[in-house]
Amino acid sequence: MNILGIETSCDETAVAVVNSNGEILSNLVLSQLKEHQAFGGVVPEIAARAHIDHLHTLIEAALKDADLELEDIDGIAATSGPGLIGGVMIGMIAGKALAASRDLPFVAVNHLEGHALTPRLTDDIAFPYLLLLVSGGHTQLLVAEGVGQYTLLGKTLDDAAGECFDKSAKLMGLPYPGGPELQKIATECADGAAAIERFPLPTPMKGRKEPDFSFSGLKTAVRTHVEALPAGDLQRTDVADLAYAFQETVADVIADRCTKAMKYFSKKYQSKEPTLVVSGGVAANKIIRARLEKLCKDKGFQSYAPPIKLCGDNAAMIAWAGVERLKKGLKDPLDFKARPRWPLDEVKA
Ligand code: KG4
Ligand code: ZN
Repeated sequence: MNILGIETSCDETAVAVVNSNGEILSNLVLSQLKEHQAFGGVVPEIAARAHIDHLHTLIEAALKDADLELEDIDGIAATSGPGLIGGVMIGMIAGKALAASRDLPFVAVNHLEGHALTPRLTDDIAFPYLLLLVSGGHTQLLVAEGVGQYTLLGKTLDDAAGECFDKSAKLMGLPYPGGPELQKIATECADGAAAIERFPLPTPMKGRKEPDFSFSGLKTAVRTHVEALPAGDLQRTDVADLAYAFQETVADVIADRCTKAMKYFSKKYQSKEPTLVVSGGVAANKIIRARLEKLCKDKGFQSYAPPIKLCGDNAAMIAWAGVERLKKGLKDPLDFKARPRWPLDEVKA
């Protein structure tokens, strides 16, 4: 079974073909970075127009890359929410049109379920697993119990982790998208301990019993530090120190929140091989990956993070969610409505 996946929920136009054995036959991502860079963030209208401009070419290219014709495709999976609604509708409607034209099953994929099922595509991780979903729009801890079965344990009460990375990076004068840029400049910090002492930052929610998150205070503290630096152009060494301190703090908070969720997971599921999976764009962060790996080692959990290429938005994860759903006989009607908001624990099997 070959499934064509389409992803257009934010600023990446992506198309992929994945088969039911979990082989990625093609995986194309066209980033709109340049279109949005001048605005310091994603402009929804520009994103939607760019999806229209490129999607059809990308579909052709993904089929060619997979060495397949449309006749070889057995189902279409398209992100149908959550996300920027203009973009979501473009990908979803293209997917529906393809499905209708060839009488193929259509799967309306929840973008977050795409991130959540990625570890099963790449490493065949068994349910249930503890899932830390950290992206530009979401920060949540859930238990993935099965396809379409997610129990929410905690979530951010304000900004998402990726949003906090992006906004803090912007305050530090770094270009968009901030997350990877901040990670890059933090490696230039010469003395980590001194940087942390120089730029003390709050650790919101640390120690709380419920595994919720809060990141807006952290961003505000970054602003205060930046404003206290000498006026004029920020010195690269100052930014490197602040970025280092920021990244360590985020990793700290995330590890603390995960510890609480792990405790709950161990008690409730008594799984022989408890696993913590981190997924979403921020899962590409090397410091956070390393911190979670260490935490898992200490707590007797298996640690899993997808390859960097599959952390950010892509269509292979959408095609794979389609595979998982179709294997269970789950498909969606062609009048499925795009959903700008669609929490993962509202996804149904
Ligand atoms: O999952 P994703 O590609 O899109 C959403 O669904 O939101 O996540 C994008 C987010 C952005 O906020 C970006 O800055 C962040 O992931 N990100 C990173 C890194 N790479 C991407 N944050 C920290 N460190 C990174 N290396
Ligand atoms: Zn995403």
